[in-house]
Amino acid sequence: MVSYKELGLVNSREIFTNAFKGGYAIPAFNFNNMEQMQAIVQACVETKSPVILQISSGARKYANQTLLRYMAQGAVEYAKELGCNIPIVLHLDHGDSFELCKSCIEYGFSSVMIDGSHLSYDENVALTKRVVEYAHQHDVTVEGELGVLAGVEDDVSAEKSSYTRPEEVEDFVKKTGVDSLAISIGTSHGANKFKPEQCIRNEKGVLIPPPLRFDILKEIEKRIPGFPIVLHGSSSVPQDLVVTINQYGGGIKDAVGIPEEQLREAAKSAVCKVNIDSDGRLAMTAAVREVLANNPAEFDPRKYLGPARESLKNLYMHKVKNVLGSDNKA
Ligand code: G3H
Ligand code: 13P
Ligand code: ZN
Repeated sequence: MVSYKELGLVNSREIFTNAFKGGYAIPAFNFNNMEQMQAIVQACVETKSPVILQISSGARKYANQTLLRYMAQGAVEYAKELGCNIPIVLHLDHGDSFELCKSCIEYGFSSVMIDGSHLSYDENVALTKRVVEYAHQHDVTVEGELGVLAGVEDDVSAEKSSYTRPEEVEDFVKKTGVDSLAISIGTSHGANKFKPEQCIRNEKGVLIPPPLRFDILKEIEKRIPGFPIVLHGSSSVPQDLVVTINQYGGGIKDAVGIPEEQLREAAKSAVCKVNIDSDGRLAMTAAVREVLANNPAEFDPRKYLGPARESLKNLYMHKVKNVLGSDNKA
C-alpha cells in the first residue's frame, strides 16, 4: 500500500472547494504516455493551475499501472523543478468496479471515479457507497455519476444519452457520501459527439451542436447547494485541428464538440471539474501528421512527438486560461 500523500499528490477536496468559491473549474486531462504528461505539467505550471491527471482503464492496460503511478510521482517532482509546486491529483477515470478502485487506491491514486451510471439506481448507490467507504479510510476522494453520456465511456458505450434526473441527486449524494458528482447535461465522449441530424448547419456549413441543458444544471445546483459537479465529454473538437488532420491524410468526418463559450459558462457555476481528452488526441495527431507529411524521410520519434507535445501544451494552456479560468489558482 502506497499513500498518495507520500508521493506529493493531493485529493480533490480543497481544490474543488476553492474552484466552487472562485467560479472556475479544474482541468482533468487524461494521459497515457510521457509526452502527454509533460505537456500537462508544463502547461499547468506555466499557467499556475491545479490539475487532475486522469488515468482510464484503457490507459492502465496500454501503459502499465505501475509505470503510470511512477510517472505521476515524477510529475510532482517535475512541476517543482519547473518552479511551481502546483496541486496535482492522480485520478482513476471511469472506474467500473470496487476491485479496480481499491487497487488504484493501493497504488497511490488520490481520487477515483466509480462509474455506476449504466447500473440501476439502487445498484449504482450500493456500488458507489462501497467505494466511498473504502476510499475515505485512506482520505481518497470519490466521484460518482448519475445519468448516461452518449459515446464511448471506456469499455461502456451508450448509443443514447439520458440526462441526469435532478430529483435523484440529493438522495444519491446523501446515501453514497461521494465527494463530487458527474452529470449528464448534453456533453458526450469522443470527437463525434453528435450525429449531423442532431445539429444545425450554419451558413458556412459548420455543424452547430444542441446547447447544453443549463436548466438541468441549475435545478441540480438548487438541490445540492455548494456540491462539486463534474462534466465529462467536454472536448470542443477545434475545427482547425480536424482540418489539419484531414489535409495530411486523415479521414475524420462530421466531428463536432461542445462550444468553449458554453464550457466557460459552466465553469463559473458548480461545475468544478471538466474532463478533456479527445481535444488532446486531435492536437497530437494533427502535429504528427503534419510533420511526417512534410518530412517523409523523418524517422526519429522525437522529431514528431516533440512538436505534438508542444501543440498539446498550447492547447492545455488555452483551456486553462480561456475556458476553465483556473490560471493563477495554484
Ligand atoms: O472517457 C474516456 C476517456 O477519454 C478515456 O478514453 O478509455 O480510450 O482511454 P480511453
Ligand atoms: P472527451 O472525449 O470529450 O475529451 O471527454 C473525456 C472524458 O470525459 C474523460 O473521462
Ligand atoms: Zn468521461
